[in-house]
Amino acid sequence: MATLELKSVKKAFGDTTVIQNMELAVEHGELVVFVGPSGCGKSTLLRMIAGLETLTAGEIHIDGQRIDHQPPSNRGIAMVFQSYALYPHKDVRGNLGFSLKHAKVDKSEIDKRVNIAADILGLQDLMGRKPRELSGGQRQRVAIGRAIVREPQVFLFDEPLSNLDAALRVHMRVEILKLHQRLKNTMVYVTHDQVEAMTLADRIVVFRDGSVEQVGTPLELYREPANRFVAGFIGSPAMNFLEAACQSEQVSLGATHLCKRVHADGDVTLGIRPEHLRVDERGQLRGEVQVFEHLGGEAFVHLLLEDGQQLVARLDGEHHMRPGDRCVLGVDPQKCHVFDLAGLRIGNV
Ligand SMILES: Nc1ncnc2c1ncn2[C@@H]1O[C@H](COP(=O)(O)OP(=O)(O)OP(=O)(O)O)[C@@H](O)[C@H]1O
Ligand SMILES: [Mg+2]
Repeated sequence: MATLELKSVKKAFGDTTVIQNMELAVEHGELVVFVGPSGCGKSTLLRMIAGLETLTAGEIHIDGQRIDHQPPSNRGIAMVFQSYALYPHKDVRGNLGFSLKHAKVDKSEIDKRVNIAADILGLQDLMGRKPRELSGGQRQRVAIGRAIVREPQVFLFDEPLSNLDAALRVHMRVEILKLHQRLKNTMVYVTHDQVEAMTLADRIVVFRDGSVEQVGTPLELYREPANRFVAGFIGSPAMNFLEAACQSEQVSLGATHLCKRVHADGDVTLGIRPEHLRVDERGQLRGEVQVFEHLGGEAFVHLLLEDGQQLVARLDGEHHMRPGDRCVLGVDPQKCHVFDLAGLRIGNV
């Protein structure tokens, strides 16, 4: 276990600044997930922590020791990539033990650590197979096993599950959670998948253009997003954003009053999560069904509101609607979010 601290970390490639001025402290045994749009600098930051990329400025500390000038092998870090990068001609046992053999670790110690990793990941029956004889999920487990045998202080994962099919992703997500509960290592995990972020993370760091937008527990980010960007990024389907107006502390969509006691004046954006809408004849939002998607247990209705704006509601699977149907939805004003035109969330007190 170890703490990980980033202090004023910057990275530029030529004239292009990719990481702005990163401050982050990861606790002992914490699992921190980085999310953010493509190109916002997540992999670059992970590679800097691992020592695969130099820093333009700033410092990285592990357990209070500055490590950003140390070679990768001295940092106590193991990284798992999206591409498993296994050695094709070595079998599973050979792949698992390779880095230890390279580091001239004792053979009995290598066997011991390889067997422990194989037990944890359920690889014992596959030890003699070559990577081409393994499924995607099995290969990914070998890649994780290679990281485990090194007994790192910090694990770094860069989208380790994105090459897997949906069912396997769900399975491996649970496996990674179990692994973390068992090893209790400090982990930094990059993903595009916001379900992975919500379910795995002790804390989520939301990035945008090389800076941190917000850091918090999954539920803090879900319930109290600092701004419209975070609000739209966390939650699936994404939060609906509607143009609204605030007058005398009351937010309205046209003639429909929605939230009270909002400290703003003029145009605002109203944020409503699809799961906070319900079918209610006396509800505030009237419209016409454009698309109805039935997923079995739940359904998504895409509504064109009377004022021309659109929104999506998540309903339970009992509902059936057709395009063109009239639909009235209700929302609890307490669950609405209000954002100013700069995108900052305004508290409703
Ligand atoms: N070696 C490099 N030289 C120049 N620019 C680079 C280099 N590596 C990365 N970049 C740029 O830095 C930015 C951040 O890249 P990075 O790979 O960290 O993004 P990311 O957040 O991991 O994206 P994704 O979600 O698509 O993996 C991108 O604009 C990328 O083009
Ligand atoms: Mg990346």
